[in-house]
Amino acid sequence: MKFTTELPRPSDDALAHSQKLQHKIRDAIHENNGAISFRRYMEMALYQQGLGYYVAGARKIGKSGDFMTAPESSPLFSQCLASQCQQVLAQLKEGDILELGAGSGLMAAHILLELEKQSSLPVHYYILDVSPELKQRQQETIEKLAPHLLVRVSWLDKLPHSFTGVILGNEVLDAMPVDVFTLHKDQCFEHQVIWQEGELLEQLNPAPADLMDAVANLNLADMESPYTTEINQNLAGWFAALSACLSQGVVLLIDYGYTASEYYHPARNKGTLICHFQHHVNEVPLYYPGLQDITANVDFTAVANCADKAGFRVSGFTSQSAFLAGNQLEKFFIRALEESPEKQYELAQQVRLLSLPSEMGERFKVIALNKECVLGLEGFSVIDQRHRL
Ligand SMILES: C[S@@+](CC[C@H](N)C(=O)[O-])C[C@H]1O[C@@H](n2cnc3c(N)ncnc32)[C@H](O)[C@@H]1O
Repeated sequence: MKFTTELPRPSDDALAHSQKLQHKIRDAIHENNGAISFRRYMEMALYQQGLGYYVAGARKIGKSGDFMTAPESSPLFSQCLASQCQQVLAQLKEGDILELGAGSGLMAAHILLELEKQSSLPVHYYILDVSPELKQRQQETIEKLAPHLLVRVSWLDKLPHSFTGVILGNEVLDAMPVDVFTLHKDQCFEHQVIWQEGELLEQLNPAPADLMDAVANLNLADMESPYTTEINQNLAGWFAALSACLSQGVVLLIDYGYTASEYYHPARNKGTLICHFQHHVNEVPLYYPGLQDITANVDFTAVANCADKAGFRVSGFTSQSAFLAGNQLEKFFIRALEESPEKQYELAQQVRLLSLPSEMGERFKVIALNKECVLGLEGFSVIDQRHRL
């Protein structure tokens, strides 16, 4: 992964696609008296029907896309998650799996294959993605890797009622649109996007009341100004909807992020928003809307607070490396090695990537939220850091 300010030039087709989306964004700006919030811009850039980054056809995730995720890097990740699902499903006696934001469908395929090995297949594996266009790719992946298990997979267009089982989301929270704001001399400014002389520009304006209220709860008064950061205002509504859907079971969310005190640290005065374009990381979200991923780190304290208010019990919080260790990463590694000794180097690299502190091991966290289900989850048996939230 390269960190850069110079991006590779997109193809002419890709540029034309981005132009179309820019014109949609321009129209939204005009309809909204000349400016839209950064959050609205990010929502359109990622999810605008037919044009947004996650919605339009091109391959985004994986080696040939813009960035890698854990399930794209190694099946070991999904096997460990399957092990955690197995523990919950065994306790619930009957229950299904619902995966949110399933990307390429690779995690679904590997989880199903592992649960089959453990004779613990759920009757249903549901997938719900804000980008329904990914369904075809997910279907193709499962068809290729686990064709006999495809009958168990169903795609939903909204959260189900009275769900029992495990809800999974890997790198879903970081793909939610955020508000960006700057505190300067006791004033709070919202980052907005305007259209000027044929291009998109960022502009700061006094924050609206709802954003000011949300920022006031972050206690940032002592920050040296200017202090720029983000906030995800979708969390409360999202967890309320998840809670209304889950009757009994566990939600497991995996993502990169921090506790609030680390996130809103005086030194982190430029926020955490970054963009991915063909494995180049940059900080310019207005470049090529629709062609690059825009993402912000997750504030896990806010996640825990919103989940708690929505009726969940926060039952675990730990690093990805501790979660995988608690879910038998070593066992799955040895099994894979025995099956394919010639892959020793490759498998060792995968374990390093998933669990070294300098790779995904510490940067990624796992949070568990329980509903009507009392259970010491294996993933948090190595170390549980709920006290840090
Ligand atoms: C960064 S990708 C991660 C994909 C996959 N989970 C992985 O790890 O490879 C984020 C995914 O979450 C989806 N997404 C974003 N917000 C969502 C929401 N509120 N509900 C369901 N899916 C969502 C996006 O469409 C996209 O497929």
